[in-house]
Amino acid sequence: MNVIEAIQLRQSIREYDATYKVSQEEILTMLNEAGRAPSSWNLQPWRFVVIQDETIKAQLKPHVYFNVPQLETSSFLVLILNDLHRYDLFPILNDLELKAGYVTPEQASVRLEKANQSKATRTLESLDREGLLDCGIVAQNLMLVAKGHGLDSCPMGGFNRDAFMDVLQLDITRYKPVVLISIGKGKGPLRPSLRLPTETITFFK
Ligand SMILES: Cc1cc2nc3c(=O)[nH]c(=O)nc-3n(C[C@H](O)[C@H](O)[C@H](O)COP(=O)(O)O)c2cc1C
Repeated sequence: MNVIEAIQLRQSIREYDATYKVSQEEILTMLNEAGRAPSSWNLQPWRFVVIQDETIKAQLKPHVYFNVPQLETSSFLVLILNDLHRYDLFPILNDLELKAGYVTPEQASVRLEKANQSKATRTLESLDREGLLDCGIVAQNLMLVAKGHGLDSCPMGGFNRDAFMDVLQLDITRYKPVVLISIGKGKGPLRPSLRLPTETITFFK
């Protein structure tokens, strides 16, 4: 399947074959593929929480409002978080790119210094706002990657973020929940959707 086909075939699917299992290895492959997304300064602020455990899903159920079928029947869900402390992980990336020979030791040390300077100027509000775009891009990548793996997905904004972070025991002051994505083998009739005419929403200048 090429990328255009994946884009055309993706639809938000709200019910899945609940017996269909996806291995942890394949989930990691999919996240690795989705993570090829671009991001501001390549800081990759997204963090993935893979939700599969039935006990945890039962605890989350009261907090997904109208999205219960996706929670109950998908093979797994991915909660995408925007890490406000993303600069703290920059040295890991810098070392990896140094070891891979993508940067010289001098370039690596200049980059580290620049990253530290940049970090000092950033507000939490700007990291929150900017990360939304990066996380949105990785989310779309993940849904297209799922299609490429023969799976369906549904992005969800309809969940109680505070309650989720509480159940998942994650620090909401550091990790901002962006979107929840269900993934599995789609079932049932599709609800087709249209788009506004492109000519209506495009300005040629
Ligand atoms: C940020 C965002 C939040 C969404 N939240 C929900 C949701 O909570 N529940 C749901 O069933 N669909 C949700 N959707 C899916 C949209 O309803 C869907 O993308 C839209 O109707 C177009 O349909 P399609 O994705 O099948 O093309 C969301 C989509 C986005 C991008």
